[in-house]
Amino acid sequence: MFYPQEVIDQVIDANNIVDVIGSYVKLQKKGSTYFGLCPFHNEKTPSFSVTDNGAKQMYYCFGCHKGGSVLTFIMKYENASYLEALKMLADRAGIALPKPDISREESARAKRREAILEVNREAAKYFYHLLKSERGERAYKYLKDRGLTDETITGFGLGYSDKYRDDLYRYMKSKNFSDDVLKASGLFSIKETDTHDYFWNRVMFPIMDVRSKVVAFGGRVMGDGEPKYLNSPETECFNKRKTLYGLHVAKRHKGKELILCEGYMDVISLHQAGFTNAVASLGTALTDGHAGILRRYTQNVIISYDSDTAGQDAALRAIPKLRDAGISVKVADLSPHKDPDELIKAEGTEGYKERLKNAMNSVLFEIHCMVPAYDLTDPDESTRFFNEVAKRLSYFTDGMEQDNYVRAVSKEFGIDYTLLKEKTKKLALSNDNIPKYEPVRPLPLKKDVNSKALLTCQKMLLSYLAQDPSLYDKVSQVIDEHDFTLPPCDGIAVMLFEQLRRRKLDPVSIISSFEEPEMQEEAAAVLDLRTDNEIEADEREKLINECVIRIKTNSIDKQMESEQDLSRMVELKRAAEKIQKIDIFGRSI
Ligand code: CTP
Ligand code: MN
Repeated sequence: MFYPQEVIDQVIDANNIVDVIGSYVKLQKKGSTYFGLCPFHNEKTPSFSVTDNGAKQMYYCFGCHKGGSVLTFIMKYENASYLEALKMLADRAGIALPKPDISREESARAKRREAILEVNREAAKYFYHLLKSERGERAYKYLKDRGLTDETITGFGLGYSDKYRDDLYRYMKSKNFSDDVLKASGLFSIKETDTHDYFWNRVMFPIMDVRSKVVAFGGRVMGDGEPKYLNSPETECFNKRKTLYGLHVAKRHKGKELILCEGYMDVISLHQAGFTNAVASLGTALTDGHAGILRRYTQNVIISYDSDTAGQDAALRAIPKLRDAGISVKVADLSPHKDPDELIKAEGTEGYKERLKNAMNSVLFEIHCMVPAYDLTDPDESTRFFNEVAKRLSYFTDGMEQDNYVRAVSKEFGIDYTLLKEKTKKLALSNDNIPKYEPVRPLPLKKDVNSKALLTCQKMLLSYLAQDPSLYDKVSQVIDEHDFTLPPCDGIAVMLFEQLRRRKLDPVSIISSFEEPEMQEEAAAVLDLRTDNEIEADEREKLINECVIRIKTNSIDKQMESEQDLSRMVELKRAAEKIQKIDIFGRSI
C-alpha cells in the first residue's frame, strides 16, 4: 500500500507534535521547548523534550536517547506499524486517507480473519462466564488453589470449558455463527456424522496477540491427565511460531528487559507478582520469528526457563536465535525450584528479583553448560575445552567486558589468564566482530556468516548516513547506491542516496515507499538504528570506514564474478587492493 507524499505531508502537518504527544505525556513549557517524563524509560525528573519550532517538529529524550517525529512517536508508543500510525494521525486530524486498493481476495481474507476473531472473542467470554458460574466451580477452585487472585483471573480472561462434548458448539450456534467460520476457528471438529468441541473440561487460557485480540486458546486438565495442555491448532489468525503469550501486557512495560519463560502459568504468576514484563513461547521452542518480535520491544532478554535439563537445553537453543536478532541475553537460575511459578510460591517476589539480578551472561552460561562434555583430566580434551572457551569469550565486542569475563573464567576453571586472554584476542580479530554461533551441545552448524556481517555493515552505513548527512560527501567518494547488494538495503540506498545528493533528507518518505508493513518496519529499523552515541569520534570513524571497505570489497567481488574482459578484471583487482587501504576520513594510519 502506498500513499502519495503529499498525503503523508498533509497528515503530519495537521498534527502538531506538542498537541499529539501532550495527549499521552504531561508536558511543561520551558523556553521554547516542552519537557515531560519519558514514556520510554523510567525516570523521576523529566528529560523528555518536545519541540515544535516551525518546521522542526521532533521529540528527543536526553535520558534514553530516543527521538524522532510525531509518526515515529506513535509507532513506538502504540507499537503500531507505520501504516497504522499514519492512519491514527489521519483520523485524529479528520483527514480521509485515500482508499487502499486491495484486491477482492485480500478483503475476503481480512473479513474471514475478523469473523474468526469474533468467534474467539465470543468463546473467551463464554468460558469466562462458565468459570464464574456454578458449572465452573471446580475449575475456579483449581485456579484459586494455584494462588491466582480474582484480579489475575479476570486480567488474563481465564475460563472453563464444560464437560459436555459439544457445549460450546451449541452455544455458538445459538449465536448464529456459521459452521464454516466455526470450523475455521479451530475450536471445533465439525463432521457430518459427529460434531464436537476441541476443548472440554479444561481450564482455559485465551492467547492474545499484541493487540489484545484472542487468537487461540490453551486448555489445561485440572490435576493429572494427558495431555496436560492442549492448544488450538494453527488457523488463519494464529501462527504459534510468531505468538508470545503475555506480550500484549509486557509490551507496555517500561523497564529495559523482557523475561522469557516456558509456560502460561509462569507468565501469569510472574505478572501477578509484579513482573509484568514476562512472556512465553507456548508449547513450541523459541523461533527466529519470536526473536525478531522480541527485538521490536527490547534489546535485553532474561531467559527464565525451567531449571531441568530440558529447560537448559531449550535455553541453549534460544540463546543464538536471540543473539542473532541483536538481543543481549542472560539466563536466570531457578534451582532448586522447577519453574518461575514454583519459585514465586516458595520465595516470593524478592526471591525472584534476586534470581534476575544474578542472571548469568549467556556466554558464561554456555561455557558452564559445556563443562560436562569434556573430560578435563585428559590433556587433549582440556585443550579443546580451552579453545572452545576462548572462542566463546571472543564474542564479547566490548573489550572491558571481555577482559572481565576472561579473568572470571580463568579463575573459575584454573586456566592461565595470559594464555586465555591471548587466544581470545586472536580469535576476536578473526571474528568479523559479529557474534557467530556454534551450539554448545549439538554439533556445530555451518552458517553463512559473511552475508550476515555484510548485511550489518550495509545497514549500519545507511543508518549513519541517515543520522548524519554530512558524512555523505566522504562516503560517496567511494560508495554509491549500487554497492548495496542486500535487501532491504539495496532499495533504501537508492532512495537515500538520491535524497542526500539533493540535500533533502526525508526518511519517512523512504519508509512509506515500501508496500508491505513488514518491509516498512524493517526499513524504519534500518533508518532508525540507534548507532552508539557513546562511542568515541575516532572509533566511530574507524567503524564507518570499515563498513565502507567491506561494502565496496563485496561489490567489486561481485563485479569480478561477472566480468569477462581481462584488462577490466585486472583493473578491478587493483581497485580491490586499493580499497583495503582507504581511509575516507583521511586519517594517517
Ligand atoms: N505445553 C503444551 N503441551 C503439553 C505440555 C506443555 O503445549 N502437553 C506447553 C504449555 O504452553 C505449557 C508449557 O509448555 O505452559 C510448559 O509446560 P510445563 O513446564 O510442562 O508446564 P507448566 O508451565 O509448569 O504448567 P503447570 O504449572 O500448569 O503444570
Ligand atoms: Mn509449572
